[in-house]
Amino acid sequence: MKWLVLLGLVAFSECIVKIPLTKVNIMQETLGEKGLLNNFLKEHAYRLSKISTRNSDITSVPLRNFLDLMYIGNITIGSPPQQFRVVFDTGSSDLWVPSIFCSSPVCYTHTTFKHLESSTYQHTNKPFQITYGSGRVKGYLAYDTIRIGRLVSTGQPFGLSLEEYGFDRLPFDGVLGLNYPNMSSIRAIPIFDNLKKQGAVSEPVFAFYLSKCRTNSSVLMLGGVDKAYYKGQLNWVPLSRVGDWRVNMNRISMKGKIIGCSGGCEALVDTGTSLIQGPTRMITNIQKLIGATPQGFQHYVSCFTINTLPSIIFTINGIDYPVPAQAYILKDSQGHCFSTFKGGTETFKHAETWILGDAFLRLYFSVYDRGNDRIGLAPAV
Ligand SMILES: *[C@@H]1O[C@H](CO)[C@@H](O)[C@H](O)[C@H]1NC(C)=O
Ligand SMILES: *[C@@H]1O[C@H](CO)[C@@H](O)[C@H](O)[C@H]1NC(C)=O
Ligand SMILES: *[C@@H]1O[C@H](CO)[C@@H](O)[C@H](O)[C@H]1NC(C)=O
Repeated sequence: MKWLVLLGLVAFSECIVKIPLTKVNIMQETLGEKGLLNNFLKEHAYRLSKISTRNSDITSVPLRNFLDLMYIGNITIGSPPQQFRVVFDTGSSDLWVPSIFCSSPVCYTHTTFKHLESSTYQHTNKPFQITYGSGRVKGYLAYDTIRIGRLVSTGQPFGLSLEEYGFDRLPFDGVLGLNYPNMSSIRAIPIFDNLKKQGAVSEPVFAFYLSKCRTNSSVLMLGGVDKAYYKGQLNWVPLSRVGDWRVNMNRISMKGKIIGCSGGCEALVDTGTSLIQGPTRMITNIQKLIGATPQGFQHYVSCFTINTLPSIIFTINGIDYPVPAQAYILKDSQGHCFSTFKGGTETFKHAETWILGDAFLRLYFSVYDRGNDRIGLAPAV
């Protein structure tokens, strides 16, 4: 999670409520051997959801779209289970929730973990600290049974916070990181790795469908991919470096003119970031091009221009991913329109880095393939 933005209530967008997703089966038995299956999966890019057997299947976790800025789902910790609201974040690798000892004011408005009530809880005195783009958390490491949907991770290391900064007024209790173990600040096995190790997921993949709707029609699917959530074929992009959900991007253009990432750059695919972020210099130029002017923390544009502004095209692995103005401009509760572009990634040290957050991922269904170290993208339904 690099950057969350909290605004006043954002206007409700009109949208169609999707049919609730239940279990979808994928084949495994008919292909027998693991090797064969892996080849099949590579060739067919996980487009298997309509072929069913009883062995392997996908677990779906409904997510709530909070103001188009974050997507929140439920998990439980402990025995008996205690429920927490978390942000599922491909930009980080750690899971944490507030401890009952947390002394920060924000912890009084969030659910805290009652460790004495859990028979499977294991305590440690090991401290941890995590810094996000927009917050910081400090606490200690613990172990317990964690459930996501019907998946169970036993002996899962996670953080219990004692101090939290920057999470005020946010409608979630903690963060669940889905990035590689390399990125773990706690230096503990991330939950998806543990689920893999414990054989809880049939395939080492997960995917996000981030809906524009404010209902719970957004979904995180684990262990497979449901084709019903995207159009056409998934375009697979190899990671620019194994160990982070980061890919090479060719360029960013508008009306045929390059406006960023000239000569190539890297892009983080980050479900825990609300906006599209890039180096300040290029973002400032983009705000100018779309007529956005600064006001407080945001850049505002006249809502009337939405229908006349051109799409901004992100080219990744030779494939164009257009983002129309209707997607890169959001409306706040007062009916004011603001740009979803944000500067500040020069602090990342690496050459030129961009972050494709929720504003991009609402348009493009994304698959995170740990088996082949690649990301799949396709237009969302
Ligand atoms: C959405 O939420 C409602 C009420 O909380 C629940 O009954 C329904 O099953 C949820 N839909 C999905 C897809 O989980
Ligand atoms: C999370 O759990 C709460 C309480 O049980 C429920 O009201 C809410 O709909 C759930 N949220 C999602 C996204 O499933
Ligand atoms: C990150 O972890 C992967 C395995 O998950 C490994 O192949 C890679 O070398 C690691 N990268 C770094 C920079 O440690």
